[in-house]
Amino acid sequence: MDESSLPGVGAEEIERARAPLERAWTLPPAAYVRPDIYDLEVERILRRSWAPLARTDQAPEPGDYIATDFMGQPVLLVHGLDGRFRAMANVCRHRAAPVAEGAGRRKLFTCPYHAWSYDTEGRLIAAPLMDGVEGFAPEDCRLGQIRTEVWEGFVMVNLDPDAAPFAPQVEPLRRYFQAFRMGEMAVVRTLTYDSGWNWKVLVENFMEAYHHLAAHAQTLEPAFHARDSVVPDSDGPWSILHMPAAAPDASRERLVQGLEDWQAQSLFAAVAFPHFLFALHGDGMAWYQMLPQTAGRFTLNIHICAPRYLLELEGADEIIAALEQATAAIHAEDIAVNDLVWRGLNAPMTGQGRLSTLERSIWQMNQWWLTQMGL
Ligand code: FES
Ligand SMILES: [Fe+2]
Repeated sequence: MDESSLPGVGAEEIERARAPLERAWTLPPAAYVRPDIYDLEVERILRRSWAPLARTDQAPEPGDYIATDFMGQPVLLVHGLDGRFRAMANVCRHRAAPVAEGAGRRKLFTCPYHAWSYDTEGRLIAAPLMDGVEGFAPEDCRLGQIRTEVWEGFVMVNLDPDAAPFAPQVEPLRRYFQAFRMGEMAVVRTLTYDSGWNWKVLVENFMEAYHHLAAHAQTLEPAFHARDSVVPDSDGPWSILHMPAAAPDASRERLVQGLEDWQAQSLFAAVAFPHFLFALHGDGMAWYQMLPQTAGRFTLNIHICAPRYLLELEGADEIIAALEQATAAIHAEDIAVNDLVWRGLNAPMTGQGRLSTLERSIWQMNQWWLTQMGL
């Protein structure tokens, strides 16, 4: 296969997806369902892009750690004793056992296999009974360092050591949402879903409001009309969907302080490509953390975030329960339509479809995806 084509995808299909929005088609079904295309995505996109691993408030104290898996790489995220967040390969430099599991607080990470010990910066501090090993240099045995950036309270990682820094690429996104002070929010609840579709099915579902008129006819559509949704121009690897309120009610107090009326009344969905998704509204944020597993499966953690002061408020539990209930109800409606899409995408007669002009964000993402895939 030549580098500038995809298995099972014709040049004409790529041309249709590449057309200006008014003439554009969706990506071909193969881009979602074929395992060999997914393998190429892993190599060209998913292991080379920035993704959020955690919020800083999930590891607030020096020594706090979270052990996790990111695109096949065991990762140890540590809030260092020096105050910095580091993502490191959770793989012992002796014979490759993970040095920690789960989450907790430690000053030292001692490997369960032969007790090599690492500090919070991943430096090897002790390796028992290694005297007599010629040329053994503990200073060369630091845990592999993974590119890490803290952005608006998110700990972002990238497995590509040569990746361009994240923050400059999404600076317009940061400015657009500055008033929400995302960095001062905290995760108050997490909902976890095993999702049986290609990861792009959810990204697309997340970033257009066209489907409000059918999939969320009784819930979101009355409050945020599909036809009023707007997708601003984007000059980077990101997309914004602005959903203005159908009947603004400035009298209701919002949890996020200091917003202008149009911000407090609207719903926003933002995507930093490929799959860093967050929805913002006057009461906080829902961060959809996606962890792709295979072409047809990913884990989704929906982290409900709110301004930190909420946790001290009387009645916080009820407010959080209401946010959780609303988020789960909307996602249940999205699961139903994503299941339908997945069934259709896997059928032999399925081809590309036309995009609505309300699906500009999908078109923006598709252009980026095609470029990253070398097309
Ligand atoms: S594998 Fe970790 S100390 Fe041997
Ligand atoms: Fe939806």
